[in-house]
This record gives sequence, C-alpha cells and structure tokens, in this order.
Amino acid sequence: MTTTHTPRVFSGMQPTGNLTLGNYLGALVNFVALQERDEFADRLYCVVDLHAITVFQEPAELSRATREVAAAYIAAGLDPERSIIFNQSRVTAHAELGWIFTCVARMGWLNRMTQFKEKAGKNKENASVGLFSYPTLMAADILAYRATHVPVGEDQKQHLELTRDIAAKFNNDFSVPDFFPLPEPLIQPETARIMSLRNGENKMSKSDPSDASRINMTDSADLIAQKIRKAKTDPEPLPSEVDGLSGRAEAMNLVGIYAALSGQSKADVLAEYGGQGFGAFKPALADLTVAKIAPIGEEMRRLLEDEGAIDAILADGAERAATLARPVMREVYDTLGLTGGGSA
Ligand code: TRP
Repeated sequence: MTTTHTPRVFSGMQPTGNLTLGNYLGALVNFVALQERDEFADRLYCVVDLHAITVFQEPAELSRATREVAAAYIAAGLDPERSIIFNQSRVTAHAELGWIFTCVARMGWLNRMTQFKEKAGKNKENASVGLFSYPTLMAADILAYRATHVPVGEDQKQHLELTRDIAAKFNNDFSVPDFFPLPEPLIQPETARIMSLRNGENKMSKSDPSDASRINMTDSADLIAQKIRKAKTDPEPLPSEVDGLSGRAEAMNLVGIYAALSGQSKADVLAEYGGQGFGAFKPALADLTVAKIAPIGEEMRRLLEDEGAIDAILADGAERAATLARPVMREVYDTLGLTGGGSA
C-alpha cells in the first residue's frame, strides 16, 4: 500500500543485563547503518525501560543498565545529533498510547505471542499483566511517532505483525484510513542470529548463566580472545561451501560472527578459510573480534564515567521525541472522543 507517512525509523532495546555481541551484530550495527541512509527523515533509538519492568528490576540496576544501553548506542556509532536517543519513560506518550492499544488489541492476538509463552514458561498465572500486554506497548512505541520502518531481530517479527494489526484495527474502527502507517520490519538476515559460544543451538543471551557463552560489549580484549579460543567447535576443518556448515551449528555460528564483523558473506569467509581447522580460524576470529569490539567497550566505559553527560543526551532526545509524538497524541485523543485528554 502506498502511504503518505514520512519515512521514519524507530527501534528499541531493553536495559536488562549486559549488552552482548549478539545485541551489537543483531541490532546496533543495523541502527548505525540506517543513520547513513537519508531517505529517512528521523531515526529514534529508544532504551525501553518501561518494557524492562514487565519482570522485576532492581531499581538502581535499571538506571545503570539504561545508561549502559545509551552509552552502547553512542559508542557503536549513533550520533545523538542525527539520531534521537532517549529512554522510554521520559516520554509519556508511550504509556498513554500503550493503554489505548491495550483496548484495541484482542486477547486472542496476544494469546498467540510466542515470546510471552517462552518468557512466562510454566508459571503463566504468576506472570505480570505487563508481560502479557508487552506487545501493545511496543506498538505504542512505534506508532506514537508514526514510524514506518523498524529494525528488529527475527524474534520480534511477530510483535511487529501485531503492531500492524493494531494500526489497521485502529484505522478501521475509527474510520481514519491511513491514520497510522503499517510499519515494516528491517531485518538483516546475515547478522540476525548470533548463537551461544557454548551451544550453537541457543541464542547468545545476556541471561545465560554461563558468561563464557557470550561476548559482553564491555569485556576486556584478553577476555574476548579467551572466550573465542574456548568456544565450542567440532573436530572437522571448515568446509569450502556454505552448504557444508549445515548440521554444524557451532562452526556456522563462528563463521557467521566472522562474516558479520568483517562485513563479508559467509561464502567469502569460507573462500578464505575453507579446508583450515579451528586452530587457524579461531585466532583470526579472536583478533577480528578484539579489534572491532574492544574499542567500543572502552568508549562505553569512558562515557559511563560521566552520568550527567549521558542523562543530558537522554533528556535532549526525549524532548525531540516528545515534540514528534505530541501532535499524534492530540489527534489520537480527539479521534477517540477523549475530550481534552492527554498532557500534551
Ligand atoms: N521488544 C524489543 C526486544 O525485546 C524491544 C522493543 C521495545 C522494540 N519496543 C520496540 C523494538 C519498538 C523495536 C521497536 O528486542
């Protein structure tokens, strides 16, 4: 469908635990690349602290992690002038529109969300209501700005489809065609999935109990190299063709990491390393990972020394974000007949 909406990018990352190489390659690299594409009028990169509290967060740790994600955004190459960097709780439109969307979305839609099922596990009765309605807040994040493009990992595709369903139902229920755009996911397939270094079947995760399973963005150069050297592999040499990686989850993952960090395809990497064993490949991968990641970690640590400076960036971003959301929220309240509603 053709839409009249200004091309605008929105994405978010949760401030929970340490950021990993998976977050960097799966999301941040994509965010930074979009900054260079001038078909987008605005780019908003949000630290979604309201999403984080769908499971209990220790308050001091939540503030620390919020600043850490902001520092990672900047250290990875987002420019706070060209991109709008802020945390979700500073802009009230998210919570306000989130509530309204809880009334638009249907129980049946949310019941189908696989991430809720995974996160709630067996103990569904004891999950927070917020964890269940999480995707309605995510829809609000995006649509409060009428964002049209959303860089996300594969695991968020279902939430983005729900966002489109909410937008379409709102437009239809209130007879306001094209009021909200139906936002498109932007997924970089090569880099979308970085797996655990201990088990190539599981996603690299900040919540894995084994620290050896992941590269944290703030790991020292020595620790990064050590984790790569100890990463699980199989005894076979690398194949010369990508097909030869199937059924070899760990080999596939390490080649994928090399490809993503060097900006090559897996085929390019195998053209160089095919036939060689991990004894030769791992040191090359360790050097590359250290060269790309250690400087970002160092810059993050430097930025985090000055909390006031990070908070000033978040406050400025929030002001610019609120300026974009305010007219949308005004129209939303008017459309629903919530007379005089909202703080804007
Ligand atoms: N749910 C996303 C995740 O866990 C984070 C997120 C929240 C998000 N709001 C968003 C991503 C809006 C894109 C757009 O990764």
